[in-house]
Amino acid sequence: MQTEPRTLTIRRPDDWHLHLRDGAMLRAVAGYSARQFGRAIVMPNLSPPVTTIAAAQAYRDRIVAALPAGTRFTPLMTCYLTDDTDPAEIARGAAEGVFTAAKLYPANATTNSSHGVTDVARLAPVFTAMERAGLVLCVHGEVTDPAVDVFDREAVFLDRVLAPLIADFPGLRIVLEHVTTAEAVAFVRAAGPHIAATITPQHLHLNRNALFAGGLRPHAYCLPVLKRERHRLAVRAAAVSGDPSFFLGTDSAPHLASAKESACGCAGIFSAAFALETYLAVFDEEGALDRFEGFASEHGARFYGLPLNDGTVMLVRDGGEVLAAVEMDEGPLVPFQAGERLAWRMVG
Ligand code: DOR
Ligand code: ZN
Repeated sequence: MQTEPRTLTIRRPDDWHLHLRDGAMLRAVAGYSARQFGRAIVMPNLSPPVTTIAAAQAYRDRIVAALPAGTRFTPLMTCYLTDDTDPAEIARGAAEGVFTAAKLYPANATTNSSHGVTDVARLAPVFTAMERAGLVLCVHGEVTDPAVDVFDREAVFLDRVLAPLIADFPGLRIVLEHVTTAEAVAFVRAAGPHIAATITPQHLHLNRNALFAGGLRPHAYCLPVLKRERHRLAVRAAAVSGDPSFFLGTDSAPHLASAKESACGCAGIFSAAFALETYLAVFDEEGALDRFEGFASEHGARFYGLPLNDGTVMLVRDGGEVLAAVEMDEGPLVPFQAGERLAWRMVG
């Protein structure tokens, strides 16, 4: 009988989709990501959003200042696209190395997206500039049409928005963020090498029943919302498949517990504190430990055209418990899988 490995060492991974917030929240969460990851694509949905080179540089400085002393972590900045984004600002931000990607939020699709794009057709000059500059487009892939059922918004987005966008800009590299459906997985698999997808821990672990397990569960609420079991299984199969089009992006999105445990709770799951452990559990359960390094440390960097990180991280098969809460002055922040046992633990 084969014995199970007790330890796993992989090249230092990256998080290709992360919300670090600002101010006290940034200071509370940044160290968790810096401990596990070499780099992260930092989402620009602050209030107000990060729409200019100057704003991205200032935000990057605040992130670096919030990191614990001695950590080596590179925040990769993104530009929040609006109806009024200037293609020249995009081109210059790419040329100066300030922007690694630009983020398309359909207006009002999710947290702090009210300044998002109302009609992608208006952004043709921006996409042309991005294509020319080799800047990656990160997409929140959900339509906002209230006539479309919330569980169908991703699948409808593929037909209505993404397929025409790819047809019009075949040279544009696009990351379909946080895929949640079998349709999205199939779409990305069938698309060419310019199209990739990130996958979150929650969409690997949970299906939509988790939202209603014994009562309403605000800490399982995120956007895109959790889907049926068959979709979770499709997303899991994609993650562990070894297909380089799929890679790690936590979408860790901290909100105070008070903002989630509310009559109108915020969308977002704070998964950064134990992200690697949570992902690794999935690869372990699927008998795919040998594919974890590709998903966590290689596929994303290659897609973005960036070098792989130096150095390694080690995980050991002896769980601990996920923290019940991260305490902030304003109140607690509840992590993904709070209080649950972990099969693996990162040790350095
Ligand atoms: O659940 C989510 N939270 N999905 C998003 O798209 C945004 C994020 C946030 O910023 O809170
Ligand atoms: Zn996000």
